[in-house]
Amino acid sequence: MTTILAIAGSVRAKSFNGLLLRAAVELAPAGVTVESASIKDIPLYDADSEAASGVPAVVQALKDRIARASGVLLVTPEYNNSLPGVFKNAIDWTSRPAADIARVYGGKPIGVIGATPGAGGTGMAQAAWLPVLRTLGTVPFFGARMLVSGAAKVFDETGQLTDPIVRGQLEKYMTGFAQFVVRQSR
Ligand code: FNR
Repeated sequence: MTTILAIAGSVRAKSFNGLLLRAAVELAPAGVTVESASIKDIPLYDADSEAASGVPAVVQALKDRIARASGVLLVTPEYNNSLPGVFKNAIDWTSRPAADIARVYGGKPIGVIGATPGAGGTGMAQAAWLPVLRTLGTVPFFGARMLVSGAAKVFDETGQLTDPIVRGQLEKYMTGFAQFVVRQSR
């Protein structure tokens, strides 16, 4: 069984990116399980606290889930034409200690998608993740793009992704990404 760990980069209860993650779980192809992870309880990175007590248990648990997964999907909001600090803070924690990066991220197939109520579809946030993904030694998926603009109009009041065009795009993205993850895991 192929498992993809999807991490939403917003802690907002009605987060569009949380809803996009939910739809990605639903639209994953057969034979692939998409599990979701939250960054809600990750504290601010603090080198003093790391030196005194090491990596917090909540971070260790996320690191171990990433390490066990065949692939990782980042579902990113865009803040000020870049990636959100809260999301990067969580990923930064998972890169500690640096000696553990290869175990957690080395050769890991990774995709980035995102949703915004604005017009740009999180394209700039997705691009801003690339140097981070390179530094961590991941293998980014470039086979498709998933940019959700006008997010307020594509989900219904229950949070379901109802826009047929966006659903089709997400289904295609998930199929392509899952195939990529399986190929990389061989
Ligand atoms: C935003 N937002 C935003 N949207 C966008 O498309 N491009 C941008 O550069 C920004 N910049 C930005 C900065 C800050 C500080 C905030 C708080 C917001 C709007 C953003 O896309 C919107 O709040 C989303 O709803 C955030 O994602 P979630 O929480 O819905 O997943």
